Amino acid sequence: MKSQIDVSNNGNSILKTCRSHEECFREIRVYSLGLDFIPKYRGLQGTNKILLERIIGKSISLSIVLDASQLARMFSILHLKTLIKIASPHQTYRTICHIDTNPKNYLIRAADGKYFMIDFSESYYSIPEHDLVNFLLFIAASHQPDKFKSFLSSFLSSYTNKKIISNRHKTLIIKWTSIFDHRREKFRKSLNINREWQYLNRRLILNSFYDFFS
Ligand SMILES: Nc1ncnc2c1ncn2[C@@H]1O[C@H](COP(=O)(O)OP(=O)(O)OP(=O)(O)O)[C@@H](O)[C@H]1O
Ligand SMILES: [Mg+2]
Repeated sequence: MKSQIDVSNNGNSILKTCRSHEECFREIRVYSLGLDFIPKYRGLQGTNKILLERIIGKSISLSIVLDASQLARMFSILHLKTLIKIASPHQTYRTICHIDTNPKNYLIRAADGKYFMIDFSESYYSIPEHDLVNFLLFIAASHQPDKFKSFLSSFLSSYTNKKIISNRHKTLIIKWTSIFDHRREKFRKSLNINREWQYLNRRLILNSFYDFFS
């Protein structure tokens, strides 16, 4: 079930009715960080409605040429601003991850082409590459392998927090991929999938992801 979204009378804000207090908490935790690529948070109404700046534009879609560096910048900043260090047993990092990296949750402002990230109802503290892999899985489903290779390379090269990524988590890519497939089935969302491209692109993610962080 989708959340209810209403546009304010003056058209400048949107009111999102969260489905639960937990979701509301997750949204406010990120919206209140005040990051420049996240719509401005204008307060809580009642117990579960959040008022947000309205971005006039449209979602990114898998059929346009994506700006890999703007996308990577958003993940870099979200992760850096929410970073926590876990000291034991090995030093690792956790960050708030967007998790629901569906292209519908990235808006392009019509006036200037600036990208925005929205919808933090599923966000939680995880390993930062969880977000990068989740996002790449959407792109992998529909992009011709040469195009995907070049997107992956500019996206991961532009992610700036290189030192917080540890190749100790390589096996998690397989787990995240299977969670991704399970979610697509659960929500019965039709992605424009080319199975052969997806297979090749996923193999590239698995084999080359950590090369960008060594
Ligand atoms: N700040 C905003 N400015 C402009 N449009 C917005 C904004 N927030 C949400 N929207 C629009 O409303 C849609 C749904 O919002 P959101 O993703 O937050 O809720 P949702 O219930 O999780 O929806 P979905 O199930 O589609 O992901 C977005 O895809 C976008 O089109
Ligand atoms: Mg959404």
